[in-house]
Amino acid sequence: MTIRKPVVAANWKMNGKRHLVDEFVRAFSADDILNQVDVILSTPATLLSYAQQQCEQQHVDLILAGQNMSRHSSGAHTGEISAELFKDVGCSWVLCGHSERRNIYGERSELTAQKFLKAQKLGLTPVLCVGESEEERNEGHAFSRLTAQIEEVINLAGKSCFRNAIIAYEPIWAIGTGRAATPEIAQEAHKFIRGMVAAMCSESADSVRIIYGGSVTRENARALFEQPDIDGGLIGGASLVPKQFKKICAAAL
Ligand code: PGA
Repeated sequence: MTIRKPVVAANWKMNGKRHLVDEFVRAFSADDILNQVDVILSTPATLLSYAQQQCEQQHVDLILAGQNMSRHSSGAHTGEISAELFKDVGCSWVLCGHSERRNIYGERSELTAQKFLKAQKLGLTPVLCVGESEEERNEGHAFSRLTAQIEEVINLAGKSCFRNAIIAYEPIWAIGTGRAATPEIAQEAHKFIRGMVAAMCSESADSVRIIYGGSVTRENARALFEQPDIDGGLIGGASLVPKQFKKICAAAL
């Protein structure tokens, strides 16, 4: 871990109901950890307003995030959610280009880049998710995949776009499989990504937070977060158990 403030994000995906929000917010109430770690809660969109109320009532400073955002500002886009709507329910961050959006819903890197730029323009911090498939890794194409995904964003949003953004390295083969990347493999990818950012914009390279996602648990979190270029995690399955998630946050200290 480094001088950068750690970030640990809970990505509930299409899971969780109000009682889980209650449990989650309660787990962090009167806890000092929120001063030391940015803890993000990304619930399904239907729960965000409720989560905001609970955080406010209990004075718990969780950062709320959307899981996916429209590239449009408003209007006739049935089923989509704009940056303004996320802001209206208290979100300040949004995930962009999660591999489930890319692979299950056909989101192309170009659209991810448009969402990223829109989020930044409208005052949300984008969390850009990137990662290679197992096949790409086995064929030696992991880094070229990461390069393509990141370049698409830089080409649209500019070389200094990571001054106000987070990057999540999430190898697809590690997501939801129980096969987390080893700390060495993850560190190598994070170092590569930081090097890419450095080549474009030297000022952002030291400050940009790059978090790891893919089967993080309370058992493996510390070894991952101890790596010099890993600044925290994006947690799926284990974030649905608030007590376990809190231990993962503590591992980032
Ligand atoms: P996982 O998901 O922790 O369940 O592997 C991570 C993610 O998809 O963000």
